[in-house]
Parts: sequence; C-alpha cells; structure tokens
Amino acid sequence: MTKNDRANFGSKIGIILASAGSAVGLGNIWRFPFETGNHGGAAFILIYILCVIALGLPVMIAEFMIGRRSRSNTAGAYRILSTGTQWKWVGRLGVLTGFLILGYYSVVAGWTLQYIVQAATGSLTGQSAEGFIATFNGFVSNPWKPALWTVVFLFLTHFVIVRGVEKGIERSSKVLMPLLFILLLVLTGCSISLPNAGEGIRFLLQPDFSKVDSSVLLGAMGQAFFSLSLGMGCLCTYASYFRDDTKLPRTAVNVALIDTMVAILAGFIIFPAAFSVGISPDSGPSLLFITLPNVFQQAFGSLPLLATLLSFLFYLLLALAALTSTISLHEVATVYLCEEFHLARPKAARWITTVCAFIGICCSLSLGVGSNLTLFGLTLFDLFDFLTAKIMLPGGGLLIALFAGWYLDKKIIWEELSNKGTLTVRTYRLLLFGLKYVAPIGISLVFLDQFNVFALFR
Ligand code: PHE
Repeated sequence: MTKNDRANFGSKIGIILASAGSAVGLGNIWRFPFETGNHGGAAFILIYILCVIALGLPVMIAEFMIGRRSRSNTAGAYRILSTGTQWKWVGRLGVLTGFLILGYYSVVAGWTLQYIVQAATGSLTGQSAEGFIATFNGFVSNPWKPALWTVVFLFLTHFVIVRGVEKGIERSSKVLMPLLFILLLVLTGCSISLPNAGEGIRFLLQPDFSKVDSSVLLGAMGQAFFSLSLGMGCLCTYASYFRDDTKLPRTAVNVALIDTMVAILAGFIIFPAAFSVGISPDSGPSLLFITLPNVFQQAFGSLPLLATLLSFLFYLLLALAALTSTISLHEVATVYLCEEFHLARPKAARWITTVCAFIGICCSLSLGVGSNLTLFGLTLFDLFDFLTAKIMLPGGGLLIALFAGWYLDKKIIWEELSNKGTLTVRTYRLLLFGLKYVAPIGISLVFLDQFNVFALFR
C-alpha cells in the first residue's frame, strides 16, 4: 500500500467520534467504577482528572502528531520518524500491548453478550441481590460459555475491521456513540432517583484524602491511560487516517472531555445504585454485572417489561461501546501486519482474530477452571489487566512523551500543531513543557512510588 491509497476518515465529526469510540468503552463503564470503588471514591476521581489533563492530553496530542505525520501503522510511524534508531521499539511495544489488551478485553466484552441474551429472555428480572451475584459467579466460572462469547465478540470485531476504515470504523462510531450517550443519561436519571441514592452520590463527590496512597496514584494514572486508549499506538494509528486539516489539540480535548464525561456518568449510574441495594462499592470487576440488573429490578419492579427493556438496551450499548474499542485495538495490529508484512487486509485480520481468540480463551478459563494457576498471586486475566493498564500503557506513555518532547524535530511538532502554519497555535510551549517535563517526571514518580523506592529514604 502506498501512502496515497491509504484509507482516511471522511469527516471531522467522524474523526472525533471514531477516536472517542476507541476511548469510550468498558474502561469507562466497567473499569472506572470498580477502580473508583476500590480506591475510595471522590479523591480517586480528582486524581484521575488531574492525570487526564497533565499526563493524558500531552501524550494524546503527541500520538496524534506522530500518526498523522507518518501516515503509517504504529511500528512504521516510529521507524519512519527516527530512521536507524532504537525508537522503533516504542511502536512495536505498542502493537504487543494492544494484543494483550484485546485478549482479556474481549472476555469482558463477551460477558456483555451473555447479559444481552439474559436480559432479552427476561431472566434478569425476579432475582434477589444474592441471586444476581450467584448468577454472575456461576457464569464466569463456567468452562465454555464465557469463552464462547469471547470468540463471538472477536468475530464481530473482525467483521467490522474487514470492511475497512471509513465504511466500518467511521460509520459504526457515528451511530453508536450518540446512542450510547443518550442511554447513559436516561440510566443516570433512574439511578439517582433510587431510594438511598444520596450515599452513593456522596461517595462520588466528597473526597477523603486520607485514603490516598501509592496504589491510588498508580490506579488513577493507569486508568487515565487505559480509558483514553493511550500509550500503545491506538490513537496514533487512528491519527494516521486523520485529514490534513484536522485540528489536533482541539480533537484531543474533545476526546478527553467525552471520555471523562462518560466515565463520570457511569459512576453516577453505578454508585447510587450499589449503595441503594447494599452492594459494597469495592466488589471489583463484577460490580457492573451485579449492580445494574439490581437497579432495573428495584427501579421498575412493578413494571417488569420496562425493566427488561432497559437492561437489554444497557447491555446492548455496553457491548457496542466495547466494540468500538476492540475495533481500534484490532486495527492497530491488523494494519501493522498489512503494512509491515505486506499481507492483504482480510488475511491480516484473520491472523489477529485467531491469535487473540486463543489469548482470550486462556484469560476466560483463568477465571474458572484455571483459577488455581496464578503468577504473582494473580490469575492470567488479572495479570494481563495489571501488566497492560498499570505498567505497559503508562510505560508506553512515558516513552512517547520522551520521544516527542526530546527527540522529535521541533519543526515537525510546530507543523503538526499548526497544520503547516495555517492555524495560530497557542499551545506549542505548553505542550512541549508537558511532553518534556510534566509527563515523564509525573509518570516516573508514580512508578517509583509504587515500587517503594521513596520508602528507602524515609
Ligand atoms: N479505552 C478503551 C476503554 O476505555 C480501552 C482501550 C485501551 C482501547 C487501550 C484501546 C487501547 O474501554
């Protein structure tokens, strides 16, 4: 494929929605609430927002610049912009990280499909809170069901990827994202009007800084990178399809705003509901799958049809939000194989789907029959989550900031920010400062703190 016949996104709104589609996903609606719950609520959210602004935004703009400038897959992008140096490994590391995330992310995405079926068949109504917990635990530890759904989800992703960038990725995002937003608003309304919802709202709004420790900092930083799809080349790949007149800083701010809003809305759906039905906010990854059916049950117990309809819609949209994210993860690896190894798109996609299905099945089994097989006390599923979200993505972000801040020619940065001089740029100095100092130092400090290096000096 030559540079000129490379695919492109067609419209400005398509660009924002596709990037936001990558960012908004299970990270916001499933992972953000349980990380917030595990780390004590409002204080975590404040630190999270700080991480998005100080670390996430500069790295996102850097990924946009690198992608659009090189018009290449992630591995190719770093190679092209730094010929003959070892920076090419940053791109390759990104492809690997994407693989690992897609593997375990598809497992949770597969759960949403099972819940769609359960909602549609009415089996999510008429149960007690304990019943929902038992249903969820029974399902994830079943040896074949969740693994099967994982593979089904990967097939859905595969189908969109094979259709290509504009017809597949852009079109699906344009429909799915607005729909998701409307449904989130409706559900927030339902959740905050439940009895005792106030306690959940307080949990989200009243910070208790005494709970902040190094794991909270690492959790918030990792969540910011995960949720914004940063540190692995997803947005770099998407930016390689941006138009020449796309305003990079503005697009980054829009994507970060949409992503953060969706995460906070998800918090306002989950916590008032969890407190209302007496489910502990720190119940981890199962939080969403146990609390939500309960909300519908409690809110519309006397109208079972409405409860069924809303839970069906919710899990459907959750699946669709996850789909726009798995598409972006898949695209990174597919276009890498296409461009670096000259494979045709369908063949490249088949390879990626097959390998990821294998990783996904292993991750899925690790929650049931394979739960005794642990490494550092973590199941394969948890290990992948920890390794990617808390180490590889922030680590990738650190390298990207260093690359853009210290290595990349300043002329390239200026040209990309100003669209070759056609825009006035006010953010140039601020961005450079962020990339050179704030992001690298911030990320390194959180890492050092997590590995207890500061304790040696206390
Ligand atoms: N940002 C996505 C989410 O919030 C997950 C993701 C991470 C997608 C990294 C791509 C790359 O669900």
